[in-house]
Amino acid sequence: MILILIQMTAPYGPYIRDKDFFWYVRAKRVRIFFYVKRKGEVYKMEMTGSIKETRAKIKEWRRQGLSVGLVPTMGYLHEGHKSLIVKAVKENDRVVVSDFVNPIQFGANEDLSTYPRDIEADRNLCEAAGADLVFYPAVEEMYQKDFSTFVETERVSAELCGKSRPTHFRGVCTVVLKLFHIVSPDRAYFGQKDAQQLAVIRRMARDLDLDIEIVGCPIIREADGLAKSSRNTYLSEMERKAALILSKAVLAGEKMIADGERDASAVIAHMRSILESEPLAKIDYVELTDADSIEKIQTVKGRVLGAVAVFIGTTRLIDNFIVEA
Ligand code: PAF
Repeated sequence: MILILIQMTAPYGPYIRDKDFFWYVRAKRVRIFFYVKRKGEVYKMEMTGSIKETRAKIKEWRRQGLSVGLVPTMGYLHEGHKSLIVKAVKENDRVVVSDFVNPIQFGANEDLSTYPRDIEADRNLCEAAGADLVFYPAVEEMYQKDFSTFVETERVSAELCGKSRPTHFRGVCTVVLKLFHIVSPDRAYFGQKDAQQLAVIRRMARDLDLDIEIVGCPIIREADGLAKSSRNTYLSEMERKAALILSKAVLAGEKMIADGERDASAVIAHMRSILESEPLAKIDYVELTDADSIEKIQTVKGRVLGAVAVFIGTTRLIDNFIVEA
C-alpha cells in the first residue's frame, strides 16, 4: 500500500477533519491513497484563559466571514461532550469549547471543591474532536471581586432541580450569558442530559432576544445504559452498579407512555417504584413536565419530559427522556 499526501493549497495539519477526505485508486493489488485537504488550512487548536485573546480570535474569524459554534462545558470531558463538539464542528466553520467550573452555580453544600478537573485530558479530547479554541479562564478572569449582576429565569427554573438547587440556574444563566457575550457564537450546543438547563437557556435566549441558535443534543450513554456524566467518577464499584437504576426507571417510564399510558401520576408511580427497589438510591424527584415550560402535567400530551434526580450515596445523578405524545 502506498500513501500519497496531496496538499491542495497548504501543508497538512495534524488531524483529519470531516472537511478533508481520503481518495484512492486501485491498480491490481496496489492501492494508492490520496489525502486531500479541501480547505487548504492547517488545523491547530489553541488554548487561552484570556477573554481579550478569545475576543481577538473571534473578531479575526468574523473578519474572514466564518461562522462560530460554542460548546460550554465545566471540563472533565467525556464522550457526551465530545458528541457536542463533533456536531458543532460539522455545523460551524470554527468551534470554541469553554472549560470553566463555574462557582456561582454550586450551592453551599455542593461539590465545587471536589469537582473533577483534568485540563490536559480535556485538551486532547477537544483536539481529537476538531475544536479550534479552548477557553479556560480562571475564576478571577470571569468574576471581578465585586461582581454583582445575575440573570434569572423564573418559572422554568422553579421545578425539578430548581427546587433542591435554588440558586443553580441563576448561576448557569449568568455564566452562559457571559460566555455568549465573550464568544458571540452563531450556535451554542447543550446536552439533553441536563434537560431543564436546556429549557432554561432556550427561555433566556428567547426572552432576551439573543441571536444565537440553541442546539440540543441527545443523551450519550455507557454500554449498560448509564447516562455519561463527569460525576459518574465519584461512584464506587457498588454505587456504579446501583446507578443503573436511573436509566432503568427512565426507560420504563418512556415505554409505559409508548404503550399508551396517559395518566402522568401512573407513570411517575411506576418509575418511583423501580427507583425504590434499589437500596442505595435516595430519590430527590421523579416528575413528568411539559418539556419546554418545565411545568408539571397531569396528562401526557405534547412534548413531555420525564425526569429523575437520585442520590447514589452522596452523588446526585440525573436522567430523563423526552417524548412527543
Ligand atoms: O452543563 C454544564 O456543564 C454547565 O452547567 C454549563 C452550561 C457549562 C454552565 O456552567
